[in-house]
Amino acid sequence: MKPVRKAVLPVAGFGTRVLPATKAVPKEMLTVFDRPALQYVVDEAREAGIEHFVFVTGRGKQAIEDYFDKAFELETTLEAKKKDAILAEVRAAALPPGAASFTRQQAALGLGHAVLCARDMIGDEPFAVLLPDVIVNGKGGSCLKQMVDAYNEVGGNIIAVDEVPQERVNQYGVIDPVTAGDAGPLVKMKGMVEKPPIDKAPSRLKITGRYILQPQVFDLLATQTPGAGGEIQLTDAMQRLMSSQDFHAFKYAGQDYDCGDKLLYLEAFAAMALAHPELGAKAKAVLEGVLKKG
Ligand code: G1P
Repeated sequence: MKPVRKAVLPVAGFGTRVLPATKAVPKEMLTVFDRPALQYVVDEAREAGIEHFVFVTGRGKQAIEDYFDKAFELETTLEAKKKDAILAEVRAAALPPGAASFTRQQAALGLGHAVLCARDMIGDEPFAVLLPDVIVNGKGGSCLKQMVDAYNEVGGNIIAVDEVPQERVNQYGVIDPVTAGDAGPLVKMKGMVEKPPIDKAPSRLKITGRYILQPQVFDLLATQTPGAGGEIQLTDAMQRLMSSQDFHAFKYAGQDYDCGDKLLYLEAFAAMALAHPELGAKAKAVLEGVLKKG
């Protein structure tokens, strides 16, 4: 079985739900406490052993490429000023030489189309997809690390899922599990559907935005017709792939935070501040203080 070495990060979206903040700054670069949202997602993937990152970008997203590059002037200045701690953090953010590729999605045709844009860079091997709108605080290993561990046992295709309140099922991809309550984290599925009407959703298990897929999905994406919202949906291509390949849903341990809308972004920001290893306790006092001030 080939290992999962590469990841696709679709970062072409406009960030419409968080405008005007995203008018001149890519939404993936918005700060979530002390680092850009995208840094959490890249770190999650690195922890899972990902060696190569394919960013599917669009116009106005150059900041992403700069962020993961070496910042020569900045590093030289910090070095001269002996700001060692901050220099180490700056260096840790960059990706190693040759570990990042960038390609542009030329039109906003949907997530499935964005993933298809990475086809040549991925080639003929299994790969991960991480949607950077979602930060997952994994318990006992990052979400993708947990998935890669499961993949090394069962192979095939694996998608992370978690429960969402019934009134929000129409905002996500939703899976149709074979049985209502599986014992372990791996769940067998009969199908999946993108953004179902609330009363037609097959379950409350939403697709989190973390995937391990086999490269045959690209053939299906290439012929995929538009689905929900008139977009080429990854969920629709995966549903088709299910007829010829093994698919598991995976209930990861941890909590996801969606940064895609203003209030959820606030929640993600507070949660990451509280989870910070050194500053968490102080952040809690600050947040409590804000609430008291009213
Ligand atoms: C995408 C996927 C959907 C998934 C969601 C997770 O939707 O298409 O299946 O549940 O991400 O955030 P989007 O948020 O791009 O509409």
